[in-house]
Amino acid sequence: REEKESFPAKEVQELISSFPRARGLVLFKHLCQYQGFWVGRIGLEGVILAQQHFQAQPTDIILSSSPKSGTTWLKALGFAIVTRNRYDHLNSPLLTKVAHECLPVWIEFSFIQNKSCRSPDLPLLATHTSFSCLPKSVITTPGCKIVYICRDPKDTFISLWHFVNSNIPKGTDPFPLEEAVELFCQGLSFQGPYWDHVLEYWNASLEMPEKVLFLKYEDIKSNPVFHVKRLAEFMGYPFTLEEESRGMVQKVVELCSFEKLSNLEVNKTGKYNMLDKFEIENRSFFRKGAVGDWKNYLTPEMSARFDQISEQKWKASGLSF
Ligand code: A3P
Repeated sequence: REEKESFPAKEVQELISSFPRARGLVLFKHLCQYQGFWVGRIGLEGVILAQQHFQAQPTDIILSSSPKSGTTWLKALGFAIVTRNRYDHLNSPLLTKVAHECLPVWIEFSFIQNKSCRSPDLPLLATHTSFSCLPKSVITTPGCKIVYICRDPKDTFISLWHFVNSNIPKGTDPFPLEEAVELFCQGLSFQGPYWDHVLEYWNASLEMPEKVLFLKYEDIKSNPVFHVKRLAEFMGYPFTLEEESRGMVQKVVELCSFEKLSNLEVNKTGKYNMLDKFEIENRSFFRKGAVGDWKNYLTPEMSARFDQISEQKWKASGLSF
């Protein structure tokens, strides 16, 4: 546990109450704007405390994402790669616990839950924080690495819309699609604007390729073996030729596949206790796992609006989906 006490959360709460607020596409509907991004009220306290107190270590590997762009998959892959000599595909904790429990540390949430910032035997930590809002020591500590996963904004949006509506607190109306599109496109989603979240990590990966690995959900889907090898190498856990010849990469890919994980009993019927505050059914982390599902929901006008924002925000960067 790092020293949270030197900056009482009460002061942070007072600070937060001065930030702009808005209704957004999130479970509890309200977001606060902080350093260009919209963050949930509770999470923001953690983001600020982490900025002030989190001390990165040279061995840290930070798995970062915007919600619904492949966080659960990246966590499973990271966990399976790092622990492959401890467990195999028959006894991995991934078979009995949702990936978020195998890898329980969220940098920002650990500060508000009063929990340790690190798992004792794993170098992996997770975050949803935007690149510019990460604690400075993450950037300045040599050796500390970041893996970012992102996804086509339209699929991320559809996934988020389903997730929010299926977990919305009792007595709260679900978001109609039109309203959800409006909020997401205005940037009013958790850690939104989504496009800015992605762009910051993209730019960082170009500037510091040894520090930031930028992955696309769609790329991993189309060539999982290649990207899992690349991920393992970047994290400092490369597969040996001997492991490759034993089919170890393929085993990691299969263990972490949507088909495998979504059909496990724990992920069909289990629950995940989010922030010790509310329960989420594990199955809501595994909906369809497909590329292009947005086509089943968005009208041509909605789709054009997403494309227009992608063009405007990303054109100069060379980023596209
Ligand atoms: P869909 O809602 O489109 O199905 P996150 O983990 O960031 O919350 O993202 C959830 C999305 O990733 C969901 O997308 C979910 O189905 C998909 N997903 C979860 N595990 C996956 C896996 N092992 N492989 C591919 N996609 C996965």
